[in-house]
Amino acid sequence: MTTPDRQSIPEHVAIIMDGNGRWANERGQSRTVGHRKGVESVRTIVRAAADAGVKYLTLFAFSSENWRRPEAEINDLFGLLKAFIRRDLAELHGQNVRIRVIGDRVALRSDILQLLLEAEETTKHNTALTLVIAFNYGSRDEIARAVASLARDVEIGLLKASAIDSQMIADRLDTAGMPDPDLIIRTSGEERLSNFLLWQAAYAELMFVPEYWPDFSRELFFAALERYAMRSRRFGGLSAAAVAMRS
Ligand code: IPE
Ligand code: IPE
Ligand code: MG
Repeated sequence: MTTPDRQSIPEHVAIIMDGNGRWANERGQSRTVGHRKGVESVRTIVRAAADAGVKYLTLFAFSSENWRRPEAEINDLFGLLKAFIRRDLAELHGQNVRIRVIGDRVALRSDILQLLLEAEETTKHNTALTLVIAFNYGSRDEIARAVASLARDVEIGLLKASAIDSQMIADRLDTAGMPDPDLIIRTSGEERLSNFLLWQAAYAELMFVPEYWPDFSRELFFAALERYAMRSRRFGGLSAAAVAMRS
């Protein structure tokens, strides 16, 4: 399959990688097997996104609510992230991929935190794709941390409460400096955001696909980009067609 037309490629694609457990369950396998297969999809989609000319790819890997899962599964997910960074960092760096991590770092184990910081540091000058890993990420938690940081500045007299605007809030989010997602894809047929990029998703195109994440392929990713190119984004204004009709 050839890469889709570059002109209408979204600058930022964010993906809720869902369905690893059900994928495994349908095969009579443990959830761990599904998560492991999910890492292969991560590799495939990172390459596909870079080839298509996407500049930012954000992957939801562990939510601030996923702590509600059994400890063994949490350990599996943390172990897989560690193994992924260890094994793939050199190759990603070779592909000129920049890594950024969003989410609350305070609660992370020091070994994982060290690895994530190392990945960000090693790749910070890379210019092809920015791979954003949302780990221990939850939108409400992110917004609460941003608001607390603004409130601290007000408290010490650095900032007037009346000066706070939406750009100032955006600049304190974990995604500061990144463009908002143009397209958010969720796999596995679930149609909800599950606390993912709530602020940033204000004008994102949402796409829900039935395939489980381990089955999500380069072809399905490109098909999503083709569907995105057909969407009419208006940002509260009028489409070109509506403007033409008016005149
Ligand atoms: C997505 O798959 C991976 C994470 C949430 C970390 P799930 O583990 O949610 O799989 P399902 O939804 O139970 O099938
Ligand atoms: C969202 O999936 C989180 C990630 C993909 C990391 P969940 O499987 O945790 O979401 P819910 O619980 O079905 O809403
Ligand atoms: Mg799920």
